[in-house]
Amino acid sequence: MVGFHGTVGSAGEAAHLVPAVGRLSYGGDYNPEQWPEEVWPQDVALMREAGVNLVSVAVFGWAWLEPAPGEYTFDRLDRILDLLHDGGIRVDLATATASPPIWFSHAHPQTLPVDVDGRRLTYGSRQAICPSSPAYRSAATRLTEQLARRYHDHPALALWHVHNEYACHNAHCYCDVSAAAFRRWLGKRYDDLAALNDAWGTAFWSQTYTDWAQVQPPRATPTSSNPGQVLDWRRFSSDEHLACFIAERDLLHAISPGVPVTTNLMSASCANLDYWAWARELTGPDRLVSNDHYLVATDPREPPAQIAYAADLTRSFAGGPWLLMEHSTSAVNWQPRNLAKPAGQLIRDALGHVARGSEGAMYFQWRASRAGSEKWHSAMLPHAGTESKIWREVTRLGRHLAALADIEGSRTEAPVAVLLDYASGWAQEAPNQPSTDMTAFAEIARWHAALWRAGITADLAPPQADLTGYRLVLAPALYLIDDAAAVNLRGYVERGGTLLVGPYSGMVDEYDRVRPAPLPGALAGLLGIRVDEFHPLPAEKTVGLAVAAGPAGGTAGGPVGSTNPPTASGIDLLASGAIGLVWTESLEPAGAEVLARYVDGPVAGQPALTWHRVGAGLAWYAGTRLADGPLRTLLGALAGRTGVKPAHPVPPGVEAVRRRHTDGRSYLFLLNHTAAAAQVDAAGTAPLTGTDLLTGDRWAGTGTIPAGGVVVLAEQPSGTR
Ligand code: GLA
Repeated sequence: MVGFHGTVGSAGEAAHLVPAVGRLSYGGDYNPEQWPEEVWPQDVALMREAGVNLVSVAVFGWAWLEPAPGEYTFDRLDRILDLLHDGGIRVDLATATASPPIWFSHAHPQTLPVDVDGRRLTYGSRQAICPSSPAYRSAATRLTEQLARRYHDHPALALWHVHNEYACHNAHCYCDVSAAAFRRWLGKRYDDLAALNDAWGTAFWSQTYTDWAQVQPPRATPTSSNPGQVLDWRRFSSDEHLACFIAERDLLHAISPGVPVTTNLMSASCANLDYWAWARELTGPDRLVSNDHYLVATDPREPPAQIAYAADLTRSFAGGPWLLMEHSTSAVNWQPRNLAKPAGQLIRDALGHVARGSEGAMYFQWRASRAGSEKWHSAMLPHAGTESKIWREVTRLGRHLAALADIEGSRTEAPVAVLLDYASGWAQEAPNQPSTDMTAFAEIARWHAALWRAGITADLAPPQADLTGYRLVLAPALYLIDDAAAVNLRGYVERGGTLLVGPYSGMVDEYDRVRPAPLPGALAGLLGIRVDEFHPLPAEKTVGLAVAAGPAGGTAGGPVGSTNPPTASGIDLLASGAIGLVWTESLEPAGAEVLARYVDGPVAGQPALTWHRVGAGLAWYAGTRLADGPLRTLLGALAGRTGVKPAHPVPPGVEAVRRRHTDGRSYLFLLNHTAAAAQVDAAGTAPLTGTDLLTGDRWAGTGTIPAGGVVVLAEQPSGTR
């Protein structure tokens, strides 16, 4: 039987994620180069007032630090680091390599990125860099080396911050230097051109390569580029950025041993990098995973569901605690309409990340900029000054984080895994698919949000991960699946796991070549089905689902248990007039049992939802995209069958997440996202007894969370007083 508590990565339970801070981190990006020196002492005094203990310095400070080629001027950085140190504030020192100075780009135009149409972009914003450029790479490592040699033993130094949000604006560069690097990368991946031709299926459209020199990036061409080429190009681009990170990281490890190194990921908003590969380079001794997260006003998910996804994903990369390196105190400036956060949300958002494993809360940025593109982005110290809502909440959050010292090193409990594979998403979202509505990354996030609404905390995992610890595994969109992943998923189910797979999964191999019949290729045997033909739905059309006729439909609900046969009343989504979106397919069971069928649409009467017993477990399949309501019902029902429970039963609009130390001490985070006070009670074996770390209030079986407020209950083990 699968155990309870799963983890993906390998990080151990360290006492302090950032040892030199020694508690939860609090602060943000601090750009002293934007301010006269007279302002600096005021900054430090206000940081102390707010409880700030860590700031990220010089993230975009290259031109400040190296105003002319090879001329490093560190005196101002010396002074601000000393000032911060005197104020008891630690520094996350950036290598400043995300934005070269204008003089550099002007002198080295070949380092500027080229877009898919062959247009060379110019300097004047940021990240105007070709990641494969040797000139950029050596200038970046030169600066990193200078900084490391000068500051490795500075007492304020707590953390190294490499670059900033790799690939945020320059995910792909199509220049000739990149083309040569791509050929070298392909040369390592494929023994010879014949293997490349085979992998890319170049017999199609007369695309056979006869000389390596002919191979180039997937630049603009009359119609769609070769999908295998594009897929390898995306892998290559992720690896090129990663190589830039590794070069800086290794220098820092060599010159500044013992000081942790990180780079800030964009876990939920960037699908251009294979973050599982990045996670391998960001975990282990003297490394940590950090993340930036911003709410998106047009996202269909609730803001806290967006936070939960970003935080769960980042925790899964880290395999344990991680650091929220940036988020916003209120509005950002880069959306069409930048919504300010209502009172209380600043604190809920920050603690929402902390509940899910962040060892602190950092912001972009400390003091709002007077000039530049981000002058209307919120900050910890806003343009309105200290007589402001934001400042009052910033200082309150500082006190809250100080009160949460005991939670450091504890781990968020997550009994479910949601599978995410970058190459699969890239292949599925490429052109010329059966339906452009079959998105991958957004669908994975949608399933995660459905779990969130059911009160269940999940990890994300790559399909090759050890899934043994999870009671329930979901694969919302796994179009591409390599052989190792297919074997892994079968083993997981055979050993007693419950797996639910979404439509259009298992179709292609790692090169995006369709797998042999029967479809769905790699998963047909495991799911016990055969797909005959896809029937995607016209835009906005839906299909109805109904309980299948036959044994599963007519029986009463059986006992809960992952290995008991499902019954219609056990999975009551079918009573609720469930609808499917986007996709249907004609499907025949080949060993599977049918739980629901389509009542209308192109394949009316055919199976929509099936389950298949394999070994000691069950493999479920949804042949359509269930709408949000029935998806939540189905996931909730599968959770119930597999013994997965919410962290605590809570009223609607309240979020409950638990962190636990290995010695058993546990903390129940209760976030009230509603405008009314919410009462939470003990339930069944969940006693709800302990002390709210934020207020010191004692809870004995029941308690009230203020409207929009947060409670962090240090739980008292049952049986103790
Ligand atoms: C990113 C960057 C920051 C800033 C913020 C604005 O996270 O890392 O420098 O531009 O976005 O939201």
